[in-house]
Amino acid sequence: MDKFLIQGGKPLKGRIEVSGAKNSALPCLAATLLTPETVTLHNVPYVKDLITQRRLLEDLGATVLTPELRTHKITAKNIETFEASYDLVKTMRASVLALGPLLSRFGKAKVSLPGGCAIGTRPIDLHLRAFEQLGAEVSLESGDVVATAPKGRLKGAEIDFGKVTVTGTENVIMAAVLAAGKTMIRNAAKEPEIEDLAGLLVKMGAKIAGAGTDTIEIDGVEELGGAEHSIIPDRIETGTFIVAAAITDGELEIAKCEPRHIEAVIDQLSRAGVDIETIDKSTLRVRRRASGLKALDVTTEPHPLFPTDMQAQYMTLMTQAAGRSTVTETIFENRFMHASELIRMGADITITGNQAVVNGPKKLTGARVNASDLRASASLVLAGLCAEGETIIDRVYHIDRGYESIVRKFRAVGADIERRSEQLDGEDGFEV
Ligand code: UD1
Repeated sequence: MDKFLIQGGKPLKGRIEVSGAKNSALPCLAATLLTPETVTLHNVPYVKDLITQRRLLEDLGATVLTPELRTHKITAKNIETFEASYDLVKTMRASVLALGPLLSRFGKAKVSLPGGCAIGTRPIDLHLRAFEQLGAEVSLESGDVVATAPKGRLKGAEIDFGKVTVTGTENVIMAAVLAAGKTMIRNAAKEPEIEDLAGLLVKMGAKIAGAGTDTIEIDGVEELGGAEHSIIPDRIETGTFIVAAAITDGELEIAKCEPRHIEAVIDQLSRAGVDIETIDKSTLRVRRRASGLKALDVTTEPHPLFPTDMQAQYMTLMTQAAGRSTVTETIFENRFMHASELIRMGADITITGNQAVVNGPKKLTGARVNASDLRASASLVLAGLCAEGETIIDRVYHIDRGYESIVRKFRAVGADIERRSEQLDGEDGFEV
């Protein structure tokens, strides 16, 4: 198992590039199951979750060519099985995104029910209820979700999500694009990844209006064809880099990003004392203001408000801000596991229910800490970068799931961070 060794206290300076969005690439790869023709996807991040998603497509019978590291040419012509195995689903919950497209094109799908995960129970009941509204029969057999369209084809329906769900919205869009008739999705998730998926599907011939708003209208078509599409930049990686510049008191030029997608993050961090300048439409220049970081409360909410996937990184920043701030998590229960590790590094954080109270600034000192989930791992890297002395982060496979070459990217801007593999000391593990 790999670990990171960080010698903190080095200001990060220079240019850093953002990779493609993991959470957009995952549904876009799943969408290729909707057509027998070839779909070419560019800017796919080279991260473990995408390698898992690619394996899922190949297990189903799709051909995936990779002419370049971040370009996939996927042809789902000879689909042989309609089943995503437990082995895949247990490592990556987003495997459930295979359900919508398989059900839509072939009228049958079987996917292991994802188990409990580190950041809460994360059910998929809303996905399944929506499939039923589209005419599917859904049952649970030995831990697998089995969904079939009894008449071969799903039928458009009115779907009103009781709760905003990102992958649920994506799954239902993919189920509805080949259904007979019209589907209305109300209380849909508005994340940029939904718009990106819809953009790809429209290129494939789908009829979708309203993606990016809370009401999405889909006119089912008979078939979809090939397309070429480039994945949007990763907004959470962008936000993580903004915090990295501010927390190390450095200056980063963050390139290949999409500032429009993280307005709430930019606004929150600006008000907390981070100077974020837009150089051009895909580049930001970030540094801490001379007046220093100020404590500022935050609450996570669905897009376009402050994302839960930036909560852990923001909490780490608040340990360095002057004053008392509260961090309230409304999307997932049990998403404060980074807090106990930050406390071990010297942070003053108290958790009550879904709220953390952070008193700052507190000097952080290096420690041996455990990465518990993807974004928690990122927050610990940020803490290590600003701490005095050496931080060792264990179980960094979590960060490999969603951050491309984080060691290489941070080293290039002056961080003293290295990856150690327990088997092969000094080997650069998953980095490219
Ligand atoms: C996606 C993102 C994840 C992000 C999250 C919230 C991907 C691959 N993952 O996860 O990084 O943290 O959005 O922005 O895009 N819920 C139910 N029943 C359901 C579905 C969801 O109760 O059927 C609940 C969840 O437990 C959670 C809330 O709804 O409390 C939001 O979850 P959801 O938006 O579905 O998260 P994901 O799509 O899993």
